[in-house]
Amino acid sequence: MSTTTTAFPDGFLWGGATAANQLEGAYDQGGKGLSVQDVMPQGIAGPRTAGPVAENLKLIGIDHYHRYAEDIALFAEMGFTTYRFSIAWSRIFPRGDEDEPNEEGLAFYDRLLDELEKHGIEPLVTISHYETPLHLAETYDGWTDRRLIGFYERYARTLFERFGSRVKYWLTFNEINSLVHAPFMSGGIDTPKDELTAQQLFQAMHHELVASARATRVAREVAPNALVGCMVLSMPTYPLTPSPADALAVMEADHANLLYGDVHTRGVYPGYFLRTLREQGIELDITAQDREDLTNTVDFVSFSYYMSVAETADPELKKAGQGNIMGGVPNPTLPASEWGWQIDPVGLRLVLNQFWDRWQKPLFIVENGLGAKDQLVEVDGVKTVVDDYRIAYLNDHLVQVGEALLDGVDVIGYTSWGCIDLVSASTAQLSKRYGFIYVDRDDDGSGTLERYKKKSFDWYAEVIRTNGGSLQA
Ligand code: BG6
Repeated sequence: MSTTTTAFPDGFLWGGATAANQLEGAYDQGGKGLSVQDVMPQGIAGPRTAGPVAENLKLIGIDHYHRYAEDIALFAEMGFTTYRFSIAWSRIFPRGDEDEPNEEGLAFYDRLLDELEKHGIEPLVTISHYETPLHLAETYDGWTDRRLIGFYERYARTLFERFGSRVKYWLTFNEINSLVHAPFMSGGIDTPKDELTAQQLFQAMHHELVASARATRVAREVAPNALVGCMVLSMPTYPLTPSPADALAVMEADHANLLYGDVHTRGVYPGYFLRTLREQGIELDITAQDREDLTNTVDFVSFSYYMSVAETADPELKKAGQGNIMGGVPNPTLPASEWGWQIDPVGLRLVLNQFWDRWQKPLFIVENGLGAKDQLVEVDGVKTVVDDYRIAYLNDHLVQVGEALLDGVDVIGYTSWGCIDLVSASTAQLSKRYGFIYVDRDDDGSGTLERYKKKSFDWYAEVIRTNGGSLQA
């Protein structure tokens, strides 16, 4: 039985990841304003509502706002050395465009950081994770408006000033490349997607890229020990056939996804994107200051990885499969999760090598995991979930991380997505569970909110304790 014991370096960061809107709840407490998530009761696919409605599971989430200490103690029990969480923008700036922050919101994250410090867990903070203040969406049409850059810069500066001495790792925008696919959730853009032009979407993307670079500059001024990373949704793409036309289709799909990492690591727009703009007759509003701002490149690249897709030039075969926000053509060689996301551990090794070869920046895997329907059962009188399927998924992906490390890729850490069950981003369900910890809450909102350790809880604790030595290749 071989293992990848030696592949994981000392100090490799092991942990889990969450986002405020998917677990905190307390949507109207502590002076918090509404965010776009508070009006998305059915996730990306469903219609947005005029205001919060009781069916929206995110309003209560898993009540982490009140139970964070208990949850972090469980993470510590698994041996986490890092924990990725996001700060809810509308807790700090309830409308998004105020001059002064909400002290109660800042104080909540101080308390959360106190708990992490108590357990020696390194925080990894996402500044904006799909939770743009609703006021910015309704008043400015989100990131289509250049003024968002200034609002975001003020928000980021507030965080760096307050938490910069306690938090080393920062991510500017969650899955920044999802904006063109999910404009309301990802970019707070209120205009319905089918009414948006490519010009508007690319302009919004440009505003976010500039805001991200400005945040990096501000961090260097006010929090010199901080390391700032971008965060992209990775989607390795295979040609459906070996034909050159399909390979070209892959190159184009790759360009559309890699653009964001290219700008974050190189500080300029790549030629292939300038060609797209020329050919589509798009002229972006890019100022001299914007160009200067963009040169503030990131310290590391982080990304989510759940699945891969295939691509084809054949319009007949080009039917989209299900998948994480952007989806793609189903790959006939791969199995899929209950939600149709195709499972491909080798894709993680490929994407790690691709990103390293292309960007030569340390890489941080900040999301990976399996969404599945779990059954709470009793084993020896203890309530648990026998989630062997999740253990297999995570094991096989981590083995590939080990392979990438042996390939020479600089990987600094791994945070499994939804380390405690939380509300799904795409479907807003609780039954799509990712956690090592089961939370008793169902899709109809019923449940005690009690926490139970799944079988994967002990399994992950052992992986961390042995620094990957217990993985089964
Ligand atoms: C990522 C998001 O796209 O995928 C998370 O950053 C999300 O917010 C995760 O929860 C899993 O997706 P879902 O839709 O199953 O929750």
